[in-house]
Amino acid sequence: MAELRLSELDKVERLHLLTSCVVPRPIALVTTRGAAGGLNTAPFSFFNVLSYQPDIVALGIGDRANGRPKDTLVNIRAGGSFVVGLVNEAMLQQVNLCGVDFTEGEDELALAGLTAVEGFQDDLPRIGEAPVSLGCELLQEVRHGSHSIILGTVERVWVDDALMRDDGRIDHGQLNLVARLGGTFYAKNWDRMSMPRMMLADWQRATLAADLPIED
Ligand SMILES: Cc1cc2nc3c(=O)[nH]c(=O)nc-3n(C[C@H](O)[C@H](O)[C@H](O)COP(=O)(O)O)c2cc1C
Repeated sequence: MAELRLSELDKVERLHLLTSCVVPRPIALVTTRGAAGGLNTAPFSFFNVLSYQPDIVALGIGDRANGRPKDTLVNIRAGGSFVVGLVNEAMLQQVNLCGVDFTEGEDELALAGLTAVEGFQDDLPRIGEAPVSLGCELLQEVRHGSHSIILGTVERVWVDDALMRDDGRIDHGQLNLVARLGGTFYAKNWDRMSMPRMMLADWQRATLAADLPIED
């Protein structure tokens, strides 16, 4: 078993190790509006939902190589709102384009040919192609070194009608989200399996049954 001490690794080695260990990571395509009014869209795979009621999502945003904060961070600090679009296979190339380090103020949404629809808060659109979108408000920025962890509360969720099940859950069979692995690799077409959660009573019954003498 390889044991690695993070303090002995440099920045790039840590990135490669951690992003290839903790997989697959969902991709948030984050739309924000700048103080001057311009739209901005960028993907983040340091992303997940952390709790419900309060409904909190987290984004990990690193500074650019030149030390300047990314537009997404600048805009969230200024405006407080952001919309997360979840990414399916059909959108992946366009999402990759949104991840190019364009000059500040570039509208990646338009460049990538993605569609802005329906406003959230101060006319902040969601992405029409995203099967699910989350309208979020900044709760807290946790700043460490050259990274900011943005905690946001989810205020609104949009779901493609075809994916919404009667029991309030999402039809994963049709969702087709892609997720990020390490390096240039992504995961798609997940194999799913179902395993009911084991309750204490189930475990006690199973243990009891295992101890019983086998009858002839
Ligand atoms: C699939 C994908 C996932 C990414 N995940 C992150 C991430 O979690 N954190 C980060 O800081 N940058 C991430 N990036 C890079 C940013 O998207 C990129 O720096 C982008 O240009 C930032 O744009 P902005 O300045 O408009 O915010 C990712 C890029 C791609 C293509």
